[in-house]
Amino acid sequence: MDARTDRRPKGPGRPATAPPVARTALQLRQVATVARRHSRPDPDKNPLREGLRLERVPDPCAFVLFGATGDLAHRKVIPALYQLWRTNLLPAEFSLVAVARRPYTNESFAAEIRASLEKYSRVQPIDEAAWAEMAKRIVYHQLDFADDAAFDSLETRLDELDKECGTAGNRLFYLATQPSQVTEIIHQMGRVGLDHEMRGGGWRRLIVEKPFGRDFESARLLNHEVNKVFRESQVYRIDHYLGKETVRNLLVFRFGNGIFEPVWNRSYVDHVQITVGESIGVEGRGAFYEETGASRDILQNHLLQLMTLVAMEPPSSFHADALRDQKLAVLRAICIPTPDEIKHEIVRGQYGPGWVEGEPVPGYRQEPEVDPESETETFVAGRFTIDDWRWSGVPFYLRAGKRLPKRATEIAIQFKEVPLRLFRDSAGDPAPNVLAMRIQPDEGIMLRFAAKVPGLGLDVRAVNMDFAYDTSFVVDSPDAYETLILDALLGDASLFTRADEVEAAWSVVTPIINAWAEQPAPHFPDYAAGSWGPESADQLIERDGRRWRRI
Ligand code: BG6
Repeated sequence: MDARTDRRPKGPGRPATAPPVARTALQLRQVATVARRHSRPDPDKNPLREGLRLERVPDPCAFVLFGATGDLAHRKVIPALYQLWRTNLLPAEFSLVAVARRPYTNESFAAEIRASLEKYSRVQPIDEAAWAEMAKRIVYHQLDFADDAAFDSLETRLDELDKECGTAGNRLFYLATQPSQVTEIIHQMGRVGLDHEMRGGGWRRLIVEKPFGRDFESARLLNHEVNKVFRESQVYRIDHYLGKETVRNLLVFRFGNGIFEPVWNRSYVDHVQITVGESIGVEGRGAFYEETGASRDILQNHLLQLMTLVAMEPPSSFHADALRDQKLAVLRAICIPTPDEIKHEIVRGQYGPGWVEGEPVPGYRQEPEVDPESETETFVAGRFTIDDWRWSGVPFYLRAGKRLPKRATEIAIQFKEVPLRLFRDSAGDPAPNVLAMRIQPDEGIMLRFAAKVPGLGLDVRAVNMDFAYDTSFVVDSPDAYETLILDALLGDASLFTRADEVEAAWSVVTPIINAWAEQPAPHFPDYAAGSWGPESADQLIERDGRRWRRI
């Protein structure tokens, strides 16, 4: 059967797909149907989009979603599936098998999904014709993770669905459950043989959500448990930052252009700043966050992953292992901070009450399910270095925090000063060049350079050259989960983290969290909600004669 041919009924709102083309995940992606905003030009008439190709559709398969009644499933995973379905990027022979503890029928669960889509789908209103077809493919399977019989019957049910829906024995298992349940579910899957690719002749893949472990040892143990059942090539560990459009564009920017690579090194780069700023607090996840903190929640994964993409050597191809080998090389070359460096070069903070976007907000210790004496950090910043030929001596300043003044994720490459400051006596001696990649919001790339102010004198100012996704391509970017789920369905693991990458990242972060656990309790809270973190974060970078960028 040719899985790349769309055989779904062509009803209203379901345009026919173009002939399939081979692709890798990192090629520019064109979705078949795009959201159009009022008052914007027709994206199909945009010359920047001419010649883009449509996607291939994954093999027939069952998408088995554990934790289907949870928040992640409803906010992210199911809306992403709906969006893929709506745009003809899922096969007609598809079933969504929702697995959770609570009792539902197929119909009552579908009704609940529909309500969530009304809230969380990025494209509204819901496409009735597409939804009617998708709803027919939703199957609810009640299951307690400790219940052997329920796993046995899940296996039988999936075999039946292969016959009823033509899903051909292909199964993508998605664990959107509590991290503590992952080992038990995988053990059960192994017992029943859900991982066996021979059975029924189809493929079997597993997506695991972060957090993947809580330190180096627990991550290693978890990898061991997962790999007892699934081969590493079947495992897709999600870090949703890797699915963000602008993060993928970083690779295109670096390796699709000839002019940047020659200056992308210690000879030209003074330092790099990477910020993951959030204006939100812990949003009802107080209990989770108490166990996690900013270093486990953002530094170990999102921040270090962004750092690897900035710092990695060009891969020989965009195939999963070629790319991940290069990322791993960076992670392994990051200098593990010594106790002294942890004291002086890594700072943590916690927000107190304050104002964010004009609204008063409580401090972290006043959030629900948070210990009023909590020592959990909601902010982390650090100076990291990479011991390799390209980056030796170039500091990477990373920071992440909750309840900062705004949501802003940015990578800034700060270049060195010119060797001779010829214009230092003119008004407005220009600052060094900066290349800033805005990951979110207002996705785009900005280059700052010096320009002469028009007039008879020789005044110089720094000006910005700006590329904005929104106005250039005139389409909405897919959500990271759409990208990543589609890639897993297509068997492309390049945007997923491999076991050794996860462990290497933990080996950088674990000494930090262990050292903090042994140090006296910090004087928390130490920054007001709505500020850019504690003073110690400014001191950290100012000691080196630099400043955080004003974002
Ligand atoms: C998640 C963290 O991984 O990323 C959350 O657990 C955080 O605490 C979120 O809010 C940020 O993601 P995004 O896509 O909104 O930047």
